[in-house]
Amino acid sequence: MTTSSDQQHREAALTDTVLRSFESCTDPRLKLVLQSLVQHLHDFIRDVRLTEDEWRTAIDFLTEAGHITDDKRQEFILLSDVLGASMQTIAVNNEAFKDATESTVWGPFFVDGSPEIPLGGDMTLGAAGEPCWVEGSITDTDGNPVPDALVEVWEADENGRYDVQYRDGRTAARAHLRTGDDGGYRFWAVTPTPYPIPHDGPVGALLAAVGRSPMRAAHLHFLVRAAGYRELVTHIFVEGDELLADDAVFGVKASLVKQFERARGATPDGRELDGRSWSRVRFDIVLAPHGS
Ligand code: BEZ
Ligand code: FE
Repeated sequence: MTTSSDQQHREAALTDTVLRSFESCTDPRLKLVLQSLVQHLHDFIRDVRLTEDEWRTAIDFLTEAGHITDDKRQEFILLSDVLGASMQTIAVNNEAFKDATESTVWGPFFVDGSPEIPLGGDMTLGAAGEPCWVEGSITDTDGNPVPDALVEVWEADENGRYDVQYRDGRTAARAHLRTGDDGGYRFWAVTPTPYPIPHDGPVGALLAAVGRSPMRAAHLHFLVRAAGYRELVTHIFVEGDELLADDAVFGVKASLVKQFERARGATPDGRELDGRSWSRVRFDIVLAPHGS
């Protein structure tokens, strides 16, 4: 549709008026962010020639997202995730530094205060799934070990659910441990399996309307903190998983895809698994220096 030059002037003048309304803002960062937001928002509305019905649908969508959000469910972060805004914010704020391990999304299922386990301990705490031995080292970008780093790990069970989704107060498949003097870590987990993001709300309806799947590629979450280093929030993904190219929140990075080897026989720590199958994976983590 073409618009007359009079109409184009009227629309541009409105944008200018709104931009000017922020001129007296004394916080330069706030001013920059809001003026840029207004400019892009007006450009978007003009670009798609947004109808008033569409504007109302958007308001209803956001209202519904607000209503379903509580201290356990954050529909706005989910929206940011499925629009790729979370991953773009991570990209902007975590520039590659040498061979430091890449970051990916937090997801909504991290819980502060997880149980502490020793090196070689079991983070599943009874969660259903195939046992998986996870081991690796944490070093700086010069290859020096990082001892006593905090490693938080959490994941869904084989039914695709995190402990907090059972709503029975259980704590399972989440724990923290610390690296040893050699920067090494190891623990038992369950082999990750794919699961859907929460899709019974407006974000799920949006995905269905555009024919997108709510499934996430199978993964195991890590949060690593060590004094003097950039905090690392990441996951590892399972090589060969069909969903790697189709993750609902765009969280997959090639460097984070790891081989989960099928294993049988004696386990690394002598644990008896009564003939059950198990897997093992190695994930060597490299931390970027703080402020890099
Ligand atoms: C997750 O990893 O569990 C997750 C990440 C983003 C949105 C929903 C779930
Ligand atoms: Fe997850």
